[in-house]
Amino acid sequence: MSERTEEAGHQGLASALMGKGALTSDWLPAYNAVPRHLFIPDMIWPGRAGMNRQDDRVIRGEDPETWWQAVYRDAPITTQWDDGTYSGPGKGKIPTSSNSMPTMVFSMLDALNVQDGHRVLEIGTGTGWNAALLSSRLGAGNVVTIEVDENSARDARTRLESAGYEPLTIVGDGAEGYADGAPYDRVIATASIGRVPREWIAQTKPGGLIVAPWGPTYGGEAVVRLAVADVGTASGPFLGSSAFMRLRDQRTQRKHVREYLRGRAWPADGRRSMTSISPESVGDWPVMFAIGVQVPEAFPWAETYDDGSYTLWLRDTAVTSWATADYVPGREEFEVYQSGPRNLWDEVASAYRWWEEQERPGFERFGLTVGPSGERVWLDSPDHTVPVLGGRGRTS
Ligand SMILES: C[S@@+](CC[C@H](N)C(=O)[O-])C[C@H]1O[C@@H](n2cnc3c(N)ncnc32)[C@H](O)[C@@H]1O
Repeated sequence: MSERTEEAGHQGLASALMGKGALTSDWLPAYNAVPRHLFIPDMIWPGRAGMNRQDDRVIRGEDPETWWQAVYRDAPITTQWDDGTYSGPGKGKIPTSSNSMPTMVFSMLDALNVQDGHRVLEIGTGTGWNAALLSSRLGAGNVVTIEVDENSARDARTRLESAGYEPLTIVGDGAEGYADGAPYDRVIATASIGRVPREWIAQTKPGGLIVAPWGPTYGGEAVVRLAVADVGTASGPFLGSSAFMRLRDQRTQRKHVREYLRGRAWPADGRRSMTSISPESVGDWPVMFAIGVQVPEAFPWAETYDDGSYTLWLRDTAVTSWATADYVPGREEFEVYQSGPRNLWDEVASAYRWWEEQERPGFERFGLTVGPSGERVWLDSPDHTVPVLGGRGRTS
């Protein structure tokens, strides 16, 4: 690609991001100082905007055209699968590192509301682009970035140095923060969480902000902005939908359906009932979020069939309970089986009804409060806590 086309790609993406309101004028100098392509490795799996799907592997030297197109498209780029154990031509099981979607990068930086002289801690160095943007804006001496994966951290450090930035790059578990560099004015996480590590709050100055993608085990996720009020407490609203890879130590271990059936054929000892709530109505990202907050430590999976029908499986992380709800197109009643101490479909149905009664709130109506005794999600105001059903619960 010629320098002119490269420049056109860089400017074209800037216009697209400004048009969406993601790239604000105060971040434009940093965007221009730190071109995205400097932080994209030669081997990538281009993503699609708004979808958790990746194309097959692209190697820069073999297909420069496709590589450059991916770099200057507003979409995430997967850079690692399965903690680095897969690098074949197709795709691995789970994407474990990426250069995030530019709209998301700049929306989160905007939400961070940094001021000159602020000290920032970033969790999830990844390719190093975000750390470079922060370094350009605030000075590398004010930026600490932590990456759990040694190879990713090493490559990011090399790219940062070549681009002229030397923020403190730590290899370690970001859940612990980095106490030696504290206190911070701002903490930004670019890996998602289901629990806010208390260290982040402890290492942030009172009045400081934490911006992080937060989502329940069930699914549904949004960026939350927490204002740190005092030692150990933080609270604030969700800002909008996101879909990040999970912080390594907060990943859910999912046992196979076999382990729930304990050697028996489905429906085993399942209790049969019928429901008028369609499995179709509980599968969108915002409703999954609302359900997940109320139904802790459980997760869905759809077993699909050729005729358009499917079985929605629900399982708990403790491996004590499962449920199935069979979706058949055109039906108004759906067959349900539930087994174990938790009635997982009943919990999901009740959580769905609550969401309907609240007039189907989107992410922006929710907020999160974290205190020494736990965390709770609220709707519209901190005193309106979202109820928590079954499981071990997450409220204080
Ligand atoms: C979406 S990528 C980060 C994108 C990055 N900010 C950039 O600009 O390219 C998420 C990163 O978080 C890292 N990560 C996951 N768990 C972590 C942990 N416990 N501590 C630090 N980093 C972690 C992953 O290895 C991955 O590189």
